[in-house]
Amino acid sequence: MFPLNQWYVAAFAWELQDKPIARTLLNRPLVLFRTRSGRAAALEDRCCHRSLPLSFGTIEQAGIRCGYHGLLFEPGGQCIEIPGQEKIPSKARVAAFQVVERNQIVWIWMGEQADSEASVQPPEVAAHDDPRYEFGGGVFHYQAPYQLIHDNLLDLSHLGYVHARTIGGNPKLHMSAPTRVEGDGDKLRVVRWLKASEPPATYSAAWPFKGLIDRWQEIDFHVTYLAIWTGAVDAATDALDNPDRGGFHMRGFHGITPETETTAHYFWTLASNTHPDRPGTSELVCRQTEATFEEDRLIIEAQHRNMCRFGGTHGIDIHVDAGPNRARRIIDRLTSRSKEAAA
Ligand code: FES
Ligand SMILES: [Fe+2]
Repeated sequence: MFPLNQWYVAAFAWELQDKPIARTLLNRPLVLFRTRSGRAAALEDRCCHRSLPLSFGTIEQAGIRCGYHGLLFEPGGQCIEIPGQEKIPSKARVAAFQVVERNQIVWIWMGEQADSEASVQPPEVAAHDDPRYEFGGGVFHYQAPYQLIHDNLLDLSHLGYVHARTIGGNPKLHMSAPTRVEGDGDKLRVVRWLKASEPPATYSAAWPFKGLIDRWQEIDFHVTYLAIWTGAVDAATDALDNPDRGGFHMRGFHGITPETETTAHYFWTLASNTHPDRPGTSELVCRQTEATFEEDRLIIEAQHRNMCRFGGTHGIDIHVDAGPNRARRIIDRLTSRSKEAAA
């Protein structure tokens, strides 16, 4: 079971082209597609006639046509054509999920009831449409439970050990950086400052820092995604809580959607600003970020394999676990609520 009545990321807008995508979200096998008229849709990936996955079908102006006997389904799940048969039975429909595209993200409403509609808009990811930034991103599939990804993103003390080649830096400094954890309902914020530290490789490549830098890391945890704002200014040149601070900025979006209890989809983007003397660095930053996330994936999947091998999920806690542990309590609470609603 997972927290329901939430907007989860189903895909990026650019993934929905001329072919349907088969993707399981929260244990539900879905077909995701965009009609030729441009509407994004998510249906249960099973034809109501003889159960061929609809993802084997083809996309048309009005919907998706099953690849076996040609039933045509509109984005609401209703069958609107049965070739060679005039009457369409009212039961000729498949489950449909509400889908909204915003800032190039295709959000899907996973309600406690089938066919439920959201009463709230999906979140805004402003950096995707902010002219100060350029962004890129991708989708990773994880052979590990989604909460291990939350743990990793809420605890950036690992940067010095796991990401030495890109965004790392001095491991001891990372591990001892003062960390503030603030909760607000189902949200959580973790703030860390690393003052007067050596710029890591990605930062030096992207921005002409003069020497030591003051770095910030602001992690906003939401139930289905995290927004992580990191960056740096030349040491002692700006306040790290100045909302208009200068320097190099990276705004990460991390949509974490469980596939099953033990596997997950990780939708990430990274938006960064470009220094006038360093044109084209956003792409470099994005490539290095992807390499960084690949490093995380190796760690997290190995961690999961070992948890399966030895049994149990948790070891001892240390000081860096405050954020991840609070996020787990939020997920536990919401999951229990969804379980009760389904009972
Ligand atoms: S299985 Fe889909 S039309 Fe027959
Ligand atoms: Fe990492």
